Amino acid sequence: MAAALIDGKGFAAGLRLTVAAEVRRLVADHGLMPGLAVVLVGDDPASHVYVRNKNSQTREAGMASFEYRLPADAPESALLERVAALNADPAVHGILVQLPLPRHMDAARVLDLIDPAKDVDGFHVVNAGRLAVGAPGLVPCTPLGSLMLIKDCLGGDLAGREAVVVGRSNIVGKPMAQLLLRESCTVTIAHSKTRDLAAVVGRAEILVAAVGIPAMIKGAWIRPGACVIDVGINRVAAAEGKTRLVGDVEFDIALAHAGHITPVPGGVGPMTIACLLVNTVRAACASRGLSTVL
Ligand code: GUN
Repeated sequence: MAAALIDGKGFAAGLRLTVAAEVRRLVADHGLMPGLAVVLVGDDPASHVYVRNKNSQTREAGMASFEYRLPADAPESALLERVAALNADPAVHGILVQLPLPRHMDAARVLDLIDPAKDVDGFHVVNAGRLAVGAPGLVPCTPLGSLMLIKDCLGGDLAGREAVVVGRSNIVGKPMAQLLLRESCTVTIAHSKTRDLAAVVGRAEILVAAVGIPAMIKGAWIRPGACVIDVGINRVAAAEGKTRLVGDVEFDIALAHAGHITPVPGGVGPMTIACLLVNTVRAACASRGLSTVL
């Protein structure tokens, strides 16, 4: 039987409505307007699209959206000064510096300067450390959204499940594995040096693919009935000189094996910005010692 498609687009739309309701409550009851600042350096076209979507979805959720642009040849010191000013601005609860940065800038140094309490990307070492030791903190958006989809598929309790994460990036693979471990899954992290990847993938009741290589995970490897989360967004050549987006999983064949699977596009992608809004509300509430439904 063909797998059920996981409707990340629909789930994200519902989550944005929940965020908007929470924002209305915070404004009405506490005079608290969550604010997200996005800093974009340079002219990368994909980054411009992301930032435009972030800004419009932030405003649609009723939050304050601040956007700062620096030219591609701006000195790193200009970006560091901007981040320092946003750290000190009480109207800003979340700061996101869009990646990738131009080559002359040191992303680690920039991310390190962001106040961990405003680090809505969850990339700061303090937040990575908190996740690793199970302390409250801000969690990277793509793994957070992926976990929401997994829980929705499998009914919430993931304890004891066999989970395999393919990819070990700081942005997706490592935090995803930590989140699944926190849910008491048995977690394996596979990567480019893993031997017999087919056998490792074949164990997974929960499979998260985050390698950035088109169709690298073969559909026939998938354990029957598995919940498959494909984080990959790869642009490949298509007919008539066009291009199309594909994931890291060989989708058509995986469909016949998996129980649930995210499509690309329309699966995990829309969850990332929705979770950025969630993190901004969480950061705003934490700044005032308020609890939140999010
Ligand atoms: N570039 C592409 N995706 C992201 C993201 O989630 N956060 C940041 N900061 N940059 C990105």
